[in-house]
Amino acid sequence: METNKTSKTALVTGAASGLGFELALLLAKDGYNLILIDIDSEKLQEAKIRILKNYHTKITLLIKDLSLINIAEEIYNDLNATDIDVIVNNAGFGLFGTFHDTDWKRESEMLHLHIITTTHLIKLILPGMVKRGSGKILNLSSLAAFQPGPLMALYYASKSYLLSFSQAISNELKGTGVTVTVLCPGPTKTSFQDVVSEGVGDNKIGFNMACPKQVAAYGYKAMHNSRVVAIPGLFNKFLSILPRMLTRNRTTKIVRKIQDKNRD
Ligand SMILES: NC(=O)c1ccc[n+]([C@@H]2O[C@H](COP(=O)([O-])OP(=O)(O)OC[C@H]3O[C@@H](n4cnc5c(N)ncnc54)[C@H](OP(=O)(O)O)[C@@H]3O)[C@@H](O)[C@H]2O)c1
Repeated sequence: METNKTSKTALVTGAASGLGFELALLLAKDGYNLILIDIDSEKLQEAKIRILKNYHTKITLLIKDLSLINIAEEIYNDLNATDIDVIVNNAGFGLFGTFHDTDWKRESEMLHLHIITTTHLIKLILPGMVKRGSGKILNLSSLAAFQPGPLMALYYASKSYLLSFSQAISNELKGTGVTVTVLCPGPTKTSFQDVVSEGVGDNKIGFNMACPKQVAAYGYKAMHNSRVVAIPGLFNKFLSILPRMLTRNRTTKIVRKIQDKNRD
């Protein structure tokens, strides 16, 4: 069992599974006290037990539905003036379908989760970081951020928002001691993929699914190195610049083809 090396505090959303859990493990390894947030109480308790088996650190759990209106303010009040040194805005999910057919309730939850709650949490915690002259923010976007995504229109658009917002405030924060990193993974083997490809089975287009441990380690290192945009994998880096070489219309058609092929 490794012991606490620092008294810094990190907040991780969606920490019960997948990339959020792996990022929480890395933070625990570096001795951060953790505030872990997730919607699923049982899974979050299990995550805490798994982390404590490996690392000795203080872990506070907050069971919250991050898609609710004003949830960021509720969390901020729960933090009770705790200084947050690292924010990992990771919680998210995908939705598939033609926009005119999909369920608005679930879609508005996704937009609140990805956009409003993430933005509001940063809005509330960032001034304290700037005042102290230090802090790190890691936002989970996606390779989806670089082009429009027919059949997952709102997911792609919300991830584009996160990329644009992160890059813009990262620029504003130069010289303050606070940095923002936006992690843009390609397909990664987590329960996210089970939801996106529900009833489809394995993806047919042959994308190699990345390992969540490796993706998290890549993003974590990028955050500590104060990199702004972090795209794990050479092929993903190529895919992220490809839309700049094609027309937007062409790129949109290609994404549509991939989405159709994956599900026909
Ligand atoms: N996996 C990929 O292929 C991939 C690729 C690019 C980007 N990403 C992004 O990476 C991030 C993490 O996803 P992941 O792949 O690690 O998926 P994951 O294993 O499903 O983890 C997401 C976590 O967020 C939680 N969550 C979902 N809705 C929530 C809500 N309203 N309030 C609080 N917590 C909530 C989930 O809880 P429940 O499971 O109980 O809902 C889950 O524990 C997401 O932002 C995703 O968009 C993933």
